[in-house]
Amino acid sequence: MTKVSFTRTSITTADRGERNRILANPIFGKHFTDHMASISWTKTLGWHNAEILPYGPISFDPAASVFHYGQEIFEGLKAFKQPDGSMALFRPELNARRMNASAQRLALPQIDEHLFVQALHELLQIDADWVPDGPGQSLYLRPLMISDETFIGIRAAHAARFLVIASPAGNYFSAGLQPISLWRSEEHFRASYGGTGAAKCGGNYAAAMLPQQEASAHGCDQVLFTDPNTEDTIDEAASMNIFLVTHDRELITPKLNGNILDGITRRSVIELAKELGLRVSEREVTVTEWVQGLKNGRITEAFACGTAAVIVPIRELRSRDFVADFGTNSPGPITLMLREELLGIQRGNRPDIFGWLDHVDSNTGC
Ligand SMILES: Cc1ncc(COP(=O)(O)O)c(C=O)c1O
Repeated sequence: MTKVSFTRTSITTADRGERNRILANPIFGKHFTDHMASISWTKTLGWHNAEILPYGPISFDPAASVFHYGQEIFEGLKAFKQPDGSMALFRPELNARRMNASAQRLALPQIDEHLFVQALHELLQIDADWVPDGPGQSLYLRPLMISDETFIGIRAAHAARFLVIASPAGNYFSAGLQPISLWRSEEHFRASYGGTGAAKCGGNYAAAMLPQQEASAHGCDQVLFTDPNTEDTIDEAASMNIFLVTHDRELITPKLNGNILDGITRRSVIELAKELGLRVSEREVTVTEWVQGLKNGRITEAFACGTAAVIVPIRELRSRDFVADFGTNSPGPITLMLREELLGIQRGNRPDIFGWLDHVDSNTGC
């Protein structure tokens, strides 16, 4: 694959002191690096005009189709400082693949996976000083694609833009690893068969805001969605996949059924767990099985996983009718082991036996 040439319009950080202050205590999603990557697409030209630009507002015509019909998809992944000071991305080719799967569902254009990864590298190279190196810190990268054709009409847009922005992220658990509680949503569903549940599109998250508010109102951290047919089969949390752990060291996670996101952390946990000698079942799993398993001692741990929090223990599942908890606020041993192993690989403290890290050359291109 020949590399695309990105034009660079760079700025130098006006205030290094301010950057250092941000990096000392980064707040996820609040501060952004100096630059962003941008590539345009039209039906006639394909992908063109690859650029690295100073980070900042972009203008769109109010008739741009994304504002009306919501053709928008995004990704999320992290770059980690390695012990030798270099930077590495975690499995970015899977994000590229998933973005194309989302693009297909939303009738947006496919982007060459190498070009997707190259855009990440180009941005990381120019903003390398923004990758924090404190405990638990990383640089979160947010690739997105929107339809920006100036046209109001219900059809797939003939123009799109791909952007990558980056935000330094602090330790998700600065106050220590806190197990979370889940609220089982009964009135709202995130996805149904044939819908967009498996796509990472903004609309799915917009639809999850109200149930998430409901979860907060009941004192829970995240909402747990079940499928609308059975109202019992577990899909996933609003931004994380779910695993249950049995007393005999089996991991159970909802199978990819077209409604849930094919999480990259989920996949990595499955591969890692098998390597560590655990049994893994990807199958239908229900709220009923979870609650009964808690009562009869078969389910001993549960955790949620995703790029932002990596692996987070679940302490309770609540609904209008019941509270099912593990009776402890301490993370279970299998949850902790998987978390330590995964974080160790991401941060270069454990051997990268699966070849998951994509090392980014800080000077000469990817
Ligand atoms: C709905 C949903 N499920 C699962 C995940 C976990 O996916 P990943 O591990 O790729 O971050 C996310 C986060 O991106 C998500 O938004």
